[in-house]
Amino acid sequence: MPFKYDVRKMQEKDLDKVTALEAACFSMPWKYQDFKDILTNPDRIYLVAASKDADGDEILGGCMLTNIAGEGDISNVAVYEKYRNNSIATQLLTKLLELGTEQYGISSFTLEVRSQNAAARRLYEKLGFLSEGIRPNFYERPKDDAVIMWKRNEGKGD
Ligand SMILES: CC(C)(COP(=O)(O)OP(=O)(O)OC[C@H]1O[C@@H](n2cnc3c(N)ncnc32)[C@H](O)[C@@H]1OP(=O)(O)O)[C@@H](O)C(=O)NCCC(=O)NCCS
Repeated sequence: MPFKYDVRKMQEKDLDKVTALEAACFSMPWKYQDFKDILTNPDRIYLVAASKDADGDEILGGCMLTNIAGEGDISNVAVYEKYRNNSIATQLLTKLLELGTEQYGISSFTLEVRSQNAAARRLYEKLGFLSEGIRPNFYERPKDDAVIMWKRNEGKGD
């Protein structure tokens, strides 16, 4: 591993950096207030991958879970380009799935991904997500279909 980082829950002090990460990674990014609201939302967890630098914590990546009536919706998965392909997203999501089960008792997780986003689709497949449907033209800028993926742990072994 070329650098060290911790995976932990987002804190107030991270808000500017998480907003910047989001702006760097998405064409329609969430804004500061959206992330601030997560801190007081009992049904949301946003995890960051943070490394220590001289000015405090540097945020390398992040991801979010929303508990929707016992199912986990994953979104805002982002890693700065210069840190990609170092398993940071894998570490973030592995921890997010664990926390979702621990904190909310979630056993089924879902997410939507752009059909053209090969890197993200591969990442989710590696974590055990399967494609279960398509939402045509779900995304703008640029237009794209959404692939709906699920990781269901319920009833395993039945
Ligand atoms: C998708 C994203 C979060 C992946 O982050 P990452 O930290 O580079 O991911 P990891 O290093 O954990 O990669 C895990 C697996 O994903 C796959 N993967 C990652 N980048 C890939 C690429 N460019 N092409 C193909 N597969 C890729 C690989 O299978 C990889 O496993 P491997 O290294 O064992 O081969 C990152 O590319 C990103 O932030 N993209 C922009 C934002 C985005 O698209 N978010 C997802 C929205 S649904």
